[in-house]
Order: sequence, then structure tokens, then C-alpha cells
Amino acid sequence: MSLALGARVGLPDDLLFLLAAHPRETWEGGLGDVGRFWLSRHGMFRQAQAMLLSEARGFVATPDVARFRPRFARLAGFLLGELETHHTVEDHHYFPRLALLEPRLQRGFDLLDADHHALHDTLAATADTANAVLRADGERDAREAALRAEAAIDRLGGLLDRHLADEEDIVAPLLIARGEETLR
Ligand SMILES: [Fe+2]
Ligand SMILES: [Fe+2]
Repeated sequence: MSLALGARVGLPDDLLFLLAAHPRETWEGGLGDVGRFWLSRHGMFRQAQAMLLSEARGFVATPDVARFRPRFARLAGFLLGELETHHTVEDHHYFPRLALLEPRLQRGFDLLDADHHALHDTLAATADTANAVLRADGERDAREAALRAEAAIDRLGGLLDRHLADEEDIVAPLLIARGEETLR
């Protein structure tokens, strides 16, 4: 089974040994402030993606250019920009430090790093479709561009859900098992 983002349906068992000891229902009480903040960023990304998708769908159903453009531009800029920043912090700060705490998870952090590259390409493609909506001339062109943006945002959502869930299953149990000091 390929473990590439877009192909895998979950993590292999050898990356989930800490999750068995620290399942999701223990995270709220087990994580410290760093872990809880990090997890809340993921919640915010899921919410922003859902809102962006809903804006694109709403526009396709009932085109209202004046209302749609500023909302869509602000939401798209926020989601795409904040995600890139989040990935940079994880790749350069979080993952190298966390991997030192548990070398058996190094393969997992390599996988998550590769996810970020795949997501980067998808984010760029999504930004292209979003810009096309904002530049479109006339309602018909804007609606057709919004249909393409909707498909791109939907695809991004699928990849993002997989990545965030798998990342949480690796990182949250590790933070609970070994503490959060290394991320401060
Ligand atoms: Fe990530
Ligand atoms: Fe993350």
C-alpha cells in the first residue's frame, strides 16, 4: 500500500504504538498548553476549509459577485497563508525536535514532511483557481471559475483531513508520553 498523501487510508501499525497507550479520548486531559494550542490550529484549518468550500458552493448556486469576492479573497488568503506558515514551523522546529524524543517515529515525521510538500502543490493549485475566480470578467465566467475552485478546495479538504488526522495520531500521543518541553 502506498503511504503517499492521496493514496493512503491511514498510518501503518508500526507508527501507532504510542496511540494505543494514549488514545484520542485521553488527549484533552493529557496534553499541555502547547499541544492543545497546536491541536486548536488544526481545528481552525478544518473550519476555514469548510467555510471556503461553502462560499464557493454558495456562489455557484447563487452568484453574487459583490458579496462573494471580498469574503472569498479574505478566507482563501487566510487558509492558504496560515497553512504554509504552520507547515514551515512543523518542518523546521517541531518535527526535528520530536523525532529526537522517539527515533522509532522518524519514518512518521518523514512521511508528514512529504505530506507538506504534496499539500504545498495542492495549495498552489487551489490559489490559482481562487485567483481565477477573483479575476473573472462577468457572472458566467466567475461562476465557471468558481466551479473549478470548488473542486480544488474539495480536493484540498480530503488531503488536509488525512494529513491532520495522521499527524495528530503521531504527535499528540508523543507529547503526552514525553512532555512538551522540547517545543518551548
Ligand atoms: Fe502538518
Ligand atoms: Fe499540523
